[in-house]
Amino acid sequence: MTTGTAEFATRLDQTADDTEALLAKLLADTVEKDEIVRPKRLIEAMRYSSLGGGKRLRPFLVVESAAVFGVPRNAALMAGAALECIHCYSLIHDDLPAMDNSDLRRGRPTLHKAYDDATAILAGDALLTIAFDIITRDEIHRDAGVRLALTRALARASGVGGMAGGQMLDLAGEGRFGDREPVDVARLQQMKTGALLRFGCIAGAILGQSSEKEYQALDDFGRALGEAFQIADDLLDVEGDAAALGKQTGQDAALGKTTFVTQLGIEGAKQRVRDLLARADAALSLFGPKGDVLRAAARFVAERKN
Ligand code: IPE
Ligand code: IPE
Ligand code: MG
Ligand code: MG
Ligand code: MG
Repeated sequence: MTTGTAEFATRLDQTADDTEALLAKLLADTVEKDEIVRPKRLIEAMRYSSLGGGKRLRPFLVVESAAVFGVPRNAALMAGAALECIHCYSLIHDDLPAMDNSDLRRGRPTLHKAYDDATAILAGDALLTIAFDIITRDEIHRDAGVRLALTRALARASGVGGMAGGQMLDLAGEGRFGDREPVDVARLQQMKTGALLRFGCIAGAILGQSSEKEYQALDDFGRALGEAFQIADDLLDVEGDAAALGKQTGQDAALGKTTFVTQLGIEGAKQRVRDLLARADAALSLFGPKGDVLRAAARFVAERKN
């Protein structure tokens, strides 16, 4: 077994458990100061899509990039929970009939199937908003300047020039809004998926008030990992097992999505993942053995079956 792999699995499980417990607390039905009421149906829908599933890879990246700089785990878990809320919101909206129209997510009916479209839209809105409540909390860092930098980075990863923008390009690439235009798949994927994963990696550098060089290294690592992650997802949509994935396969072809699988073929896409993995590895050289768990995370992304 390669160094870091066994440790990786244990640490991923631990972070998933801790994230689950933290989200269960943050998404309780009791109100926070200045809130009026948390409507039962809405908070239940938010919990349905945020608890009891998911690999929790994004919180893991926050925790492990933060660990490189000795950032307290609880602070990193809180930032990771905020990121996971954005991720869960993006999945809820991604699955809606107006977007990918998916019926299955994390092995269960998608939120709009279990509830209804309006509840799914609002649960997504509320998860997006609560993420910014969480990321600005005092326990994330004593220096408000650090919290501000982290908040701005999360906003930019999530919004028009990040995830939401990438989702727009993804739908445009299907030809939803008129003629199909040539698709820059690398850019589309950097935005729709890469931006949130990259945020997970630079979050540690921001929290740890790293040097510019260390920030750059995690930025490069996050970009390579993010791109590899979506290509792996596209490969799993063709070759994966729906039961293991907990979501339908064959959807990209049915919707006419443009991916590296359609552009390069299966072997070409796999080669691109290998190249990205090498890039991710090289980016971490600065950290020596302290980068081992993140290195294992990149291997996991490339080899995962779910
Ligand atoms: C799925 O992300 C959506 C994509 C960006 C491809 P994950 O594969 O991380 O989903 P969960 O959180 O483990 O369910
Ligand atoms: C989803 O990409 C990206 C976001 C949710 C932002 P996909 O549409 O490929 O994700 P899956 O396959 O439905 O999980
Ligand atoms: Mg999609
Ligand atoms: Mg989808
Ligand atoms: Mg997919």
